[in-house]
Amino acid sequence: MADSGILACASAPAKTILFGEHAVVYGHPGIAIPLPSLRLDVTITFSARSRIVSRQVGLNAEIDSIPESDPVGKLTRLLAERFGMPPVPIAIRINSKLPVAAGLGSGAALSIAIIRAYAQMMRIAITDSEVSEIAFEIEKIYHGDPSGIDNSVIAHEKPIYYIKNKTIEPIETPVELPILVVDSGLKSATIDVVADVRRRFPGNRPILEAIGKLTSEAVQALKAGDLPALGTFMNENQRLLHNLTVSCGEIDRIARLALDSGALGAKLTGAGRGGNMVILAADHAQKKRLEQILAKSGVTVRS
Ligand code: PMV
Repeated sequence: MADSGILACASAPAKTILFGEHAVVYGHPGIAIPLPSLRLDVTITFSARSRIVSRQVGLNAEIDSIPESDPVGKLTRLLAERFGMPPVPIAIRINSKLPVAAGLGSGAALSIAIIRAYAQMMRIAITDSEVSEIAFEIEKIYHGDPSGIDNSVIAHEKPIYYIKNKTIEPIETPVELPILVVDSGLKSATIDVVADVRRRFPGNRPILEAIGKLTSEAVQALKAGDLPALGTFMNENQRLLHNLTVSCGEIDRIARLALDSGALGAKLTGAGRGGNMVILAADHAQKKRLEQILAKSGVTVRS
């Protein structure tokens, strides 16, 4: 029988970390912003049999057949425990523009859109903080040892200054940042990179501390809309991430190309060793020019 009747729908944005990835896992600050134009949508419909479907990742499975070790399996069980079983068999349909394993928070966005749609279907009001807290449980499967910055910025959908278990402070920016998010084209699993940084701890502690110090200074530049200062902080953050061994040849190449073409700053975003990068232009006209230069050299512009 074909699915019919929409019970609920919700969406969640991608995110980019401007400063502090990895260091944020160790209690240092991180700064992240949502990417509202890059979204993942979830629709819940009536269905003859309960299932979960995503064309993008080729998923079409019975909800109950997904093991608890899988993030979606764990999430659907958690939601049934917390909000009750669905009143009828349902299909959860995912439609996403977010690349997976690419540093843009696709895992957190998926959890958050499902949580919001499920609560809506059950007619339960839920705060952004509650959404974030449930998604954090699932982040543990994706990341192993998550800081919580991804679920926080995506649930609140605002730029945030974040310290693990301590601070989620919204940041007001006086200007719309002329940033580009571009894909290195290399997939990278966050859980592996985070585990490798952990293996190298405490030898890499001075680098993580330097990233934390830089992030606490960069937040002032962000609040002031001081783009040249922000660019300098981004380049210094990238240099430290390189020393942390989480950059890679392709990211270094794209950063060099962007800076040689006039960008103010360029760095990886998220776990690194592939995935996406964030590039700061001097203004929106230059952003357009950079977009063309990068696209011509084979780089995918995501946002
Ligand atoms: O790769 P992403 O988008 O999942 O971001 C990971 C960010 C880290 O700081 C490396 C890990 C974390 O939990 O904060």
